[in-house]
Amino acid sequence: MAETRERWSSRSAFLFAVIGSAIGLGNVWRFPYITYENGGGAFLIPYLIALITAGIPLMILEYYVGHFTQSAPPTAFKKIWHRAEWAGWFAILLIFILSTYYCTIMGWSVNYLFHSFSLGWGNTAESVSSFFNNSILQLSESPSAFGGIRLPIVGGLALIWLFIYLSLFKGVETLGKIVYFTVIIPWLIIVVMVVRGLTLPGAMEGIKFYLTPDFSALLKPKVWLAAYGQIFFTLSLAMGTLIVYASYLHEKSDITVNAFLTSIANCLTSFVAGFAVFSTLGYLAQSLGVSVKDVTTSGIGLAFVTYPMAISLLPVAARFFAALFFLLLLTLGIDSAFSMTEPVVESIVDKWRLKKKYVLPVVCVFGFLIGLPFTTRAGLYWIDIADHFITNYGITTVGFLECIVIGYVLGAKKARTYINQVSEMQIGIWWDIFIKFLTPAFLGISLVFQFVNFIRKGYGGYPIWTTYIGMGFIVVLAIAAIILAKRKGAV
Ligand code: PHE
Repeated sequence: MAETRERWSSRSAFLFAVIGSAIGLGNVWRFPYITYENGGGAFLIPYLIALITAGIPLMILEYYVGHFTQSAPPTAFKKIWHRAEWAGWFAILLIFILSTYYCTIMGWSVNYLFHSFSLGWGNTAESVSSFFNNSILQLSESPSAFGGIRLPIVGGLALIWLFIYLSLFKGVETLGKIVYFTVIIPWLIIVVMVVRGLTLPGAMEGIKFYLTPDFSALLKPKVWLAAYGQIFFTLSLAMGTLIVYASYLHEKSDITVNAFLTSIANCLTSFVAGFAVFSTLGYLAQSLGVSVKDVTTSGIGLAFVTYPMAISLLPVAARFFAALFFLLLLTLGIDSAFSMTEPVVESIVDKWRLKKKYVLPVVCVFGFLIGLPFTTRAGLYWIDIADHFITNYGITTVGFLECIVIGYVLGAKKARTYINQVSEMQIGIWWDIFIKFLTPAFLGISLVFQFVNFIRKGYGGYPIWTTYIGMGFIVVLAIAAIILAKRKGAV
């Protein structure tokens, strides 16, 4: 078959697309609270080590797989080793489920943007948390009490899927133009929020809290696991996105410099966004007359409870800053969201030679429908559970498999020779050592560690059966991946 693969129109289109995928909700709410929970300033040390020992080597590996095979993950892995196709499908199924709840969180942001204009959440701790739990989510008392879907969230979700469809249907060249906006707009907003944050009274207390290291944290394995988990999530690794995006590169494009540029741009953005968030939390603490520690809630609560509250206490233009913050979440998230859909579509197109214009709408509609359980009154619990199992077990497993397939079956040296031929910067034998030994060893240990923890405690204080469902679900996805790999393709 003649080569008809789509191409990025320029190197910067590719760079912006990858940076847009990497920078997302993970940078603005996940990074700050993970940093805070894991030793504050000291966390930056394991974070940087994770970036160097797993993030960058794996990013180079994934660019290589896409660039060399010119295919989406399942076909790409099949070309490298005929038994490895299922690993590609496993990544694709994981990212598809991830996209369904990622878009639901964005659906909440749509609602919040709408309520920004009236600051609907009030300005007391009670009113803000009640707005999130009772008005927006109408959260039920347990994961088994679904209690019907929430129409405003479904509306937001539908809007996000429509955006994804519109961003992707014209193909990669148009996508390459959209990403300039979805990267530059949030960057500008972050700058505005950092300046506003740092000029608020109490800001320095927040920053101190963010950056003061607790070196004893470095002795805890949990902190190291958190650092590796965050690096995987934030760099969009082991999910197929980078392989697909790299497969649209021209044959002569660089790999290594691109990998360094994109990962550093992403991590710097996280670091800077941390200043916006923590300076504002410092202000909130001062306004309430409490310490920063007492206002910091973790996870999703940070973006939808603590931060909105801080904003509604701003002396001037609170509504403007509220709207700006949710616009930030939406513009940050949208290019991550469509970078989750593109690999799914492209994998199906690649294997069965179907037309993208038919596959895309079907994937979007299915993505929307599968997201509906997350819009029920028990949705928040299920998002939390799904996220835990997908990021901790799913992503790590795929990363581990990638190291084995490239490091051993194909041979790291062979891959490195190819990478060095096309790249502007040469990588040395250190890369082989990471891919063959250090990265898989670390990922293997972390998988075992988490599994032991899971057997002992279950996850997150939910009833133990939810842990079995989460774990069972990952196994079902792996089996589904094997079945998909066994099906005959068009070539
Ligand atoms: N990196 C994105 C974020 O930080 C999430 C993502 C994961 C996007 C996997 C694509 C693939 O929000």
